[in-house]
Amino acid sequence: MSTNQFPYKTDGSGALLKHDRTAWLKGGKAECMMPPHKPPGQASRIILLGPPGVGKGTQADMLSERLGTCHLSTGDVFRAAKCLDEKELSPAMRNAIDHMRRGELVPDETVLNMVGERLRCLKCSGGFLLDGFPRTVAQAKALEQLLETHGIKLTAVFNYELPIEKIVARISGRRTCSNCKAVYHLTTRPPKFSDLCDQCGGKLFQREDDRPEAVKVRMEAYQTATKPLIDFYQQRGLLFNISAEGSPEEVFQRTRLTALAR
Ligand code: AP5
Repeated sequence: MSTNQFPYKTDGSGALLKHDRTAWLKGGKAECMMPPHKPPGQASRIILLGPPGVGKGTQADMLSERLGTCHLSTGDVFRAAKCLDEKELSPAMRNAIDHMRRGELVPDETVLNMVGERLRCLKCSGGFLLDGFPRTVAQAKALEQLLETHGIKLTAVFNYELPIEKIVARISGRRTCSNCKAVYHLTTRPPKFSDLCDQCGGKLFQREDDRPEAVKVRMEAYQTATKPLIDFYQQRGLLFNISAEGSPEEVFQRTRLTALAR
């Protein structure tokens, strides 16, 4: 990854630019209002790995602003589906939401169909930051095949690491915007006005799967199904372990240095 892939992209006034993710979140024929444009060969295609609550979404948000690359979270797609009318949900999506509520992984077939329907986001010239996918070896193999078929190469896989007690503290204070999905923390990243999103004014809520019993199930699913991906990507020479200790900005700077040292 070259140094010019970590510029701070601004709109001229100093405000950081953020791409919308309509095509990813809605699927189908939905179009992004501000699709990223990158000269060929400059886009980053990154996977973010790590246990639930380690801070992948937070880093993906920061990286996407700096890289001008879309944050593609499978969890966000399932949460967006939860807000739809019951009648609009396919049986597979209804089943996926039930799994998510309990903290269990959604079946591979459903996840892969959902990602396959959004293939144009993986092919986007702006690149991608995948967060929450792949999450099993079967998903990783399917993604590898899909990317190979379309001649797309992964840039890197960042694996965030943090002791479990710190992860639990992060999860219990998390609040998410019901509208734009921005993530806050009651103590480490508080919103300016309590309960309202700084970015869009949307109402903040606590995720259903952040209840202690669902968190336990999510941690177990991570240990058995997702952790093996560390070896999978290590063997392919793509893995970078990054400590998730410290503030989001400190973790971001560590990520940046890790990428540059490559
Ligand atoms: P998903 O949405 O992917 O959740 P997750 O992997 O469990 O990860 P989280 O979103 O909980 O945490 P995060 O690492 O993004 O942390 P965050 O940045 O928010 O998946 C949810 C569910 O969907 C799954 O359980 C499953 O059911 C289903 N699913 C999704 N994809 C699937 C797939 N591929 N296969 C099968 N099922 C799938 O940070 C957490 C908190 O900490 C925030 O409050 C944040 O503000 C704070 N924080 C972040 N960084 C810092 C820092 N450095 N210092 C202090 N606080 C920080």
